[in-house]
Amino acid sequence: MELKVRPRRLRSSEVLRKMVRETRMDPASLIYPLFVMDGENKVEAIDSLPGINRYTVDRMDEELERLLDAGVKNVMFFGIPEHKDEVGSGAYADDGIVQKALIRSKEQFPDIYRITDVCMCEYTSHGHCGVLCGEDVDNDKTLELLSKTALSHVKAGAQMVAPSDMMDGRIAAIRDCLDDNGHSDIPIMSYAVKFASAFYGPFRDAADSAPSFGDRKSYQMDFHNRREALKEALLDVEEGADIIMVKPAMSYLDLVREVHDNTDVPIATYSVSGEYAMVKAAALNGWIEEEKIMCEMATAAFRAGADIYITYFAKEIAKCIKEGRIG
Ligand code: PBG
Repeated sequence: MELKVRPRRLRSSEVLRKMVRETRMDPASLIYPLFVMDGENKVEAIDSLPGINRYTVDRMDEELERLLDAGVKNVMFFGIPEHKDEVGSGAYADDGIVQKALIRSKEQFPDIYRITDVCMCEYTSHGHCGVLCGEDVDNDKTLELLSKTALSHVKAGAQMVAPSDMMDGRIAAIRDCLDDNGHSDIPIMSYAVKFASAFYGPFRDAADSAPSFGDRKSYQMDFHNRREALKEALLDVEEGADIIMVKPAMSYLDLVREVHDNTDVPIATYSVSGEYAMVKAAALNGWIEEEKIMCEMATAAFRAGADIYITYFAKEIAKCIKEGRIG
């Protein structure tokens, strides 16, 4: 057979396969979501996220140490407060849970890069991502509270803020507020392309943040839409977002590519709780090979165009990268 082009030639050995590999990874691109809660001396397992815990601030050190040992320096903090109210005041309290975690980690773990999720849903008694007007979230009133929250995170030591509420205009509002208060150097990672997704189920158990009525479809995106994803991304870039996130990851990699090709900012994608839970559940049943699936999912995210991967598997992926099993 006279075949000039034989793609198999470049697959003939491990050395060659690694030489021509198109996607390379680095633990510096990984972010680990960390749940911190009010209280003292407690570590609570989360049933639907095997291997992931919620920590009181005095116990989060052990997780931060494990992250640093694994080579993961980037942490996104999520707070689980003891008390919730109509206006989510715990989100912007000086002694709020995330603020306390930031102060401590800045003191004890200066090598950890501190990012915060900015949202109201963990702090409101109704579980929605903003203040209510009747049964609907009041967009513009919520912007003030989100800005206050972002500013209070930064004052407590956040080095980057990541608004995840999906209100219109929040990037511009937060940018203005940070700039007016002398924090023009703090980047904003926008959850710009965030879908109303059933993949967040285990997170809502972990953060106790499921809406008490209705759903989030009036602010999070309809997952049938692709052009709207670009509209949201471009709008947030215009408003001053430094990094654009697509969330969830695995079922939305077409949009990672779309946003990557049509913007000039770094792209993050969040492999959410439901993705992690599915892998863990199947692996615990012996139905899949956990590590291989995890590596394949991570590689696919970067191959799609992500620069940053937010994942509950951050430590394990970092280990695989370091040991040359992927990337
Ligand atoms: C807060 C927020 C959510 C997630 C990240 N930030 C939950 C939601 O929007 O309901 C989901 C993360 C995950 O599922 O791992 N708004």
